[in-house]
Amino acid sequence: MVTGPTRSGKSRFVRTILQARAELRGSHVCMIATKPEDKTLRDYHWPIIRKWPPPYGTDQFIYWVRTHNDADENKKIQRAEIRDVMQKLWTPAANMIVGFDELAYLDDREELNLKSMTQRYWREASALGITVVAGTQRPRFVSLYAFTESQWMAAFRPFDEQDGRRVAEVMGSKKTYYDELMNLRHHEFILRHIRTRQEVVTRIED
Ligand SMILES: Nc1ncnc2c1ncn2[C@@H]1O[C@H](COP(=O)(O)OP(=O)(O)O)[C@@H](O)[C@H]1O
Ligand SMILES: [Mg+2]
Repeated sequence: MVTGPTRSGKSRFVRTILQARAELRGSHVCMIATKPEDKTLRDYHWPIIRKWPPPYGTDQFIYWVRTHNDADENKKIQRAEIRDVMQKLWTPAANMIVGFDELAYLDDREELNLKSMTQRYWREASALGITVVAGTQRPRFVSLYAFTESQWMAAFRPFDEQDGRRVAEVMGSKKTYYDELMNLRHHEFILRHIRTRQEVVTRIED
């Protein structure tokens, strides 16, 4: 799980780890993107799929849902499309990485309202060989499962005190982490392995 305000470097971090996985192990990756435009996602240089399914043999790709002019219509269509894709990916021995570029947009009831789907991913996907990777700029709007069920957390400097408190809290202690989070420099993040509680402050080399 990756948290941080817009432009902190979430997508860059996720891109770095996913491309490394793809190179090292040939991992299959489906990155689900919902923003109308995003330079960091374009720079994956992976095929961008606007309509399911991806062409046969496409191992790494970005599923970038189309946007529609009417806002309500947009949500309705995007919700249906992403829901459908999440169902289709849900198969035994799926063996792949599924990425959500902005989890809050899926989880928020005012947006796509897909929390029950994403929660199922957090709780049960690993049994199908699905690895979930997700970023959010609104940590207070994603389900707690995103934090309790993930194995790694990367936390950039929070946007404000409220976000800072939420992120410090899900990291286990407001007292321990709040100041550390608020003092991170631009593009720096706390990387933590949940099980061992090992952590380091680091950044992606430019
Ligand atoms: N470690 C870094 N060093 C230098 N530039 C970075 C680093 N991380 C991100 N950037 C740049 O900052 C901008 C925002 O990064 P991005 O990953 O798209 O942010 P986010 O996904 O959090 O909105 C991009 O132009 C990106 O190339
Ligand atoms: Mg991003």
